[in-house]
Amino acid sequence: MHYPRLFSTFAVLSLILTACTDDASPIANDSEMATATELPADDNYRPVYHFTPPANWMNDPNGMVYHRGEYHLFYQYYPDSNVWGPMHWGHAVTENLVDWEHLPVALAPDSLGYIFSGSAVIDHQNTSGFGSKENPPMVAIFTHHDPVGADAGAVDFQYQSIAYSVDQGRTWTKYDGNPVIPNPGIRDFRDPKVIWDEAREQWLMVFAAKDRVQFWTSPNLLEWEQVFEFGQDAPNHDGVWECPDFFPLPIEGTDRTAWVLIVSINPGGANGGSGTFYFVGDWDGETFTPLSEPPYSTDEVVRWLDYGRDNYAGVTWSDIPEEDGRRIFLGWMSNWDYAQVVPTTTWRSAMTIPRSLHLQTTDFGTRLRQRPVSELKQLRGTPIDIPGEKLAAGVHELPLSDLPEAGVFEMELLFDLVDSQAEQVYVTLSNESGDFVRLGYDRGRDKNEFFTDRRRSGKVGFEERFATELHRAPRWSNEGQLRLHVFFDRTSLEFFADQGEPVMTDIFFPESPFTKGVLEVYGDGHMRLEGGKIWPIAGK
Ligand code: FRU
Repeated sequence: MHYPRLFSTFAVLSLILTACTDDASPIANDSEMATATELPADDNYRPVYHFTPPANWMNDPNGMVYHRGEYHLFYQYYPDSNVWGPMHWGHAVTENLVDWEHLPVALAPDSLGYIFSGSAVIDHQNTSGFGSKENPPMVAIFTHHDPVGADAGAVDFQYQSIAYSVDQGRTWTKYDGNPVIPNPGIRDFRDPKVIWDEAREQWLMVFAAKDRVQFWTSPNLLEWEQVFEFGQDAPNHDGVWECPDFFPLPIEGTDRTAWVLIVSINPGGANGGSGTFYFVGDWDGETFTPLSEPPYSTDEVVRWLDYGRDNYAGVTWSDIPEEDGRRIFLGWMSNWDYAQVVPTTTWRSAMTIPRSLHLQTTDFGTRLRQRPVSELKQLRGTPIDIPGEKLAAGVHELPLSDLPEAGVFEMELLFDLVDSQAEQVYVTLSNESGDFVRLGYDRGRDKNEFFTDRRRSGKVGFEERFATELHRAPRWSNEGQLRLHVFFDRTSLEFFADQGEPVMTDIFFPESPFTKGVLEVYGDGHMRLEGGKIWPIAGK
């Protein structure tokens, strides 16, 4: 093993960072207590700076809307157990996308059914009549799922309903005319996302109907009319479509705006199980037409928003003020292949970090790129600098043992591929038990791809589909500079390659924290590291 001298001279960090604690104490479901004793304490697995529920089961983010200084996050929540069940909307708010305040459950099941995924808007003009122009109502649009009909084998057990709040989302009233869109006889009919279509001055709703997205319009959020259905000619029908999102986004560096349609699919994801893809196109009020661009690569049939296994059902915040102008995305950091059996007991699953979305013209078409929101920088501790160096094949130590909290940091590494001959460069985090996770870049044997590897990351046997293969993502850039930007948080990694594409999000459960890290170079010749930084990250 070769440890370059420069890497051993980093100053030891004396920063003491506080780990995140939640106000509510997690309460385990009785039936699960038996297994809890065999596992490491849950809080060793709870992320420090990612959003997690106070206790028990969480899945999709819902109702994300900004109002009067607060970003609201509602989420699919079963407060009584650590597995999926009668769905509620849990609720939390943040003023800065970093410090979260847990609020009481917003919506609970009723005689029409469970409260499935959906969205929320601010009805500024009070078109619904639920509030006033001075105090515009917050309106939630969600799917009611009737479990009785579902169990009885009916097909019409999901329909779209609404509820409103005139006190900043603290208390809610369900509309007495629910459902606002009854089921026409389609088995999977859910997850409405509503936006105000500025150009046509009307509300626009998209939701998933089997493996299609339906488009409906309304003047007042109460009366809806279907205008369009999309998806028949789309490339991916390997699973049911869920949780669509639809919004305009400027193409950076041009005066053109395109529309982005995000769709989650389960199963059928890029590397198995649940996954999320997108289309870029034009919307004229009646039809969504994907841009006609040449096929840039035979590798790409579907444009994946994330090539990892753990970013599902993600959508974006509504009503972010124009002067901010960002389109901010958050996803559920799990996968239906194993979400209900991951080795945590008192709580289950986290959200991704918030990411801003950007449309850019690239050598591979008009593409969606993601950046961690800049607010996350306030969590950074004093950076450890990694000087540039020509790295020989072999193993080079990263100064991770100096971190105040093992496995909780942000890292950025830049390489000059033009001046490098080696085939692969990757980062490996490991612990005393020999568990490891790995991520990096491979251009050996005609490859040009990024990868993550959690096959030996610790507890992997809880579900056979959890850790079978490397996760791979094509490189969508011809730039000479290679960029690896990664957020680690005890049990997750979010890997933003190059200018924010591809992105790979994966979770893992080591037997003990990852205290060690190395940078490995493989193949003949060198890899030129231009430099890098590691920031300890504090919880809030
Ligand atoms: C996606 C999903 C949605 C549904 C919700 C139920 O993960 O299956 O389609 O509304 O979860 O919890």
